[in-house]
Amino acid sequence: MVDANAFIDEAIASIKSQVGNGKALIALSGGVDSSVCAILAHRALGDRLIPVYVDTGLMRKGETDRIREIFKFMNPHVADASDRFFAALKGVTDPEAKRKIVGEMFIRVFEDVVKGLEVDYLIQGTIYPDRIESEGGIKSHHNVGGLPSVTDFKGIIEPLQDLYKDEVRDVARALPLPEEISERMPFPGPGLSVRVIGEVTKEKVAVVREANAIVEQELVHQYKPWQCLAALLEKGTGVKGDNRCHGWIIAVRAVESRDAMTANHMELPWETLNKISSRITSEIPSVARVVYDITPKPPATIEFE
Ligand code: XMP
Repeated sequence: MVDANAFIDEAIASIKSQVGNGKALIALSGGVDSSVCAILAHRALGDRLIPVYVDTGLMRKGETDRIREIFKFMNPHVADASDRFFAALKGVTDPEAKRKIVGEMFIRVFEDVVKGLEVDYLIQGTIYPDRIESEGGIKSHHNVGGLPSVTDFKGIIEPLQDLYKDEVRDVARALPLPEEISERMPFPGPGLSVRVIGEVTKEKVAVVREANAIVEQELVHQYKPWQCLAALLEKGTGVKGDNRCHGWIIAVRAVESRDAMTANHMELPWETLNKISSRITSEIPSVARVVYDITPKPPATIEFE
């Protein structure tokens, strides 16, 4: 385990020396990793840090407003790029292609935001397990393998690259960041696009966003899962009222893990699962069926793509 306070001092000194008198850009996502990086970089660089929040249209319910509020002292640029993301993802079904498209679009949007600002460095919240999985070729992490090889930046700085998630949370508590961030569940860089199997459309994302909000409301506070989520699979037959219908199938997943490299499903009480199922099918009329995923990682992953 790292000594959080020593880590903070070293990380700030290192960002200062790498960036020199230049400027750096950070992408805020609201997750614990990018938030810790943003605070470290803000302490190192003050207003030579340019925080950018990209609204991809793939974020969780209410996320954009919360991030604006929490980081308003840094005066972040908010780029509404959701139309660009949906256009780029149109017709794409391959999971790795989707990840690459989202990763590249992030960079393009940053570059547009910083045009003329003379920004030298990009600061990213990549953590140790992200690097291992990307280097091993397991998947392209949006904040590692999905990066275009040529960018307009002089370099990329990854202050958390040697830390595990629980170490990042220790640093977050020591900074301190509000509990709502330091204890926040991980959320993938490509956002809800990895929780929609196949082509990503606005309609599917709206459904899966509502389903994720319900799952979080029912599980986070009461059961404190390491991570919980809802994913939209395919359509299946159901019956609503007197009619057969063809509605979405939503998979619910709640896992225990230490570092995301392995995970096990949580054994939730049936009444909790029943409540989640009935809330999802009644509050989201286009959903016909809800299933609970009990597969460990490996062989499954935590996310669905
Ligand atoms: P998987 O699905 O590979 O995910 O078991 C492991 C953990 O990583 C999160 N995840 C990501 N985080 N960028 C991120 O910052 C990504 O591209 C990404 N993909 C998955 C996932 O939510 C889980 O906690």
